[in-house]
Amino acid sequence: MEERFICENITSNNEGHLCFAGQDVVKLAEKYGTPLYLLDEDRIRERCRTFNSAILDCLGENAAIAYASKASSFKEIYRIMKSENMYVDVVSCGEIYTAAQTGFPLENALFHSNNKTDDDISFAMDNNVGYFVVDNEEELFAIQKEALNRKTVQKVLLRITPGIDSHTFAAVSTGKVNSKFGSAIETGQAKRITETALSQKNIKLSGYHCHVGSQLFDADVFTRTSAIMIKFIAEIKKSLGYEAEILDLGGGFGVKYLFEQPTVDIKSIILSTVDVIKRLCKSENIRLPKIIFEPGRAIVADAGMTVYTVGTVKRIPNFINFVSVDGGMTDNVRYAMYKAEYTLLTANKMNEPCNMKANIVGRCCESGDIIQKNVPVPESIQRGDIIACLTTGAYNYSMASNYNRIPRPPIVMLKGGDNRISVKRETLFDICALDI
Ligand code: LLP
Repeated sequence: MEERFICENITSNNEGHLCFAGQDVVKLAEKYGTPLYLLDEDRIRERCRTFNSAILDCLGENAAIAYASKASSFKEIYRIMKSENMYVDVVSCGEIYTAAQTGFPLENALFHSNNKTDDDISFAMDNNVGYFVVDNEEELFAIQKEALNRKTVQKVLLRITPGIDSHTFAAVSTGKVNSKFGSAIETGQAKRITETALSQKNIKLSGYHCHVGSQLFDADVFTRTSAIMIKFIAEIKKSLGYEAEILDLGGGFGVKYLFEQPTVDIKSIILSTVDVIKRLCKSENIRLPKIIFEPGRAIVADAGMTVYTVGTVKRIPNFINFVSVDGGMTDNVRYAMYKAEYTLLTANKMNEPCNMKANIVGRCCESGDIIQKNVPVPESIQRGDIIACLTTGAYNYSMASNYNRIPRPPIVMLKGGDNRISVKRETLFDICALDI
């Protein structure tokens, strides 16, 4: 890896152009137009393999990796997941439908959401979704009712809140007792929902799920969570005689957005987590459950890049500089929502020193429409230059909007030196497609 870049799929060439997955970003911008999402398919597959080989090494077949497809959901991603033997986590009929369209084997899907409507439940059953991850008792009864109607038995995991503060940013911290997700161990609700699940004839309780947060950088949160969950499983075995077959520990593996952030060692986090689980299963005298992890960001984030063209450059002497690009919060809402950090590069001027700082802003009628503040850019930056925002593979396209009636960018997939459109650019016609 060139020292100044945050991921090995980023380089630059002799023309002073940024390259992604070995391809010239400036030429891709010319070919497809901007704004443009790029995705490095080889990197996505490599990440799937890293996770899969880590679990295979320490758990053999008694484990699975489920890609949390909320991170980026479109048809091609489910085809890739299928061919990499991944499970998927889906959270809506939209995600289930998209996966189903590609022939993804939905018996390997886990259906999340804290509020599944009766229609959602019915649609998921129509599509033979393997596991429902049940958030609360009301949902359990709704699933029981629908399964009874169909004379089937639905496999479920119960979402448990282990009471862990993952110290990540508040909007993505989900493990605390006061979380909107799941049933807490501390309040006795986790045990109660277990009893309820066991008493429902058309529900097969397969085990437990938890997810404590996102952007976690070391094993600590995973090992503490696992310890709590295994003790809970043991306690349930003692008190109710039920022994979980599956323990899904959620996702949250951190990703490097900035050069100074550490690289997360997936394998070592998984190894230390599984180590704790195995040890505790032995001492608590319970069988080792099938372990599932659900990474989203860590599968796709650094496989992504967004490419923009510079429009207005506004210099306000002694105050601030603004570089406006042809995208913004419509394709990347993460700074506006979380003050999320990103690395941006001027893709056609990689050989020029970045001796000026500017706020890179979008073109929405909204002051908060900022991609990133204080970005080093070349003094010569001007209309027509190409700006790349790195590490945008997760939660960018999937959170994109049509605010200001701006069409969403296409997704171009890069693979082994080739490039192809996976999602077309939205058109003005699409913008009005549903209007009467
Ligand atoms: N499993 C469950 C149940 C989840 O709720 C999530 C993320 C994941 C897995 C995947 O987490 P990951 O590995 O991607 O960290 N929009 C926010 C992130 C929200 C995450 C929601 N749940 C963002 O842009 O940072």
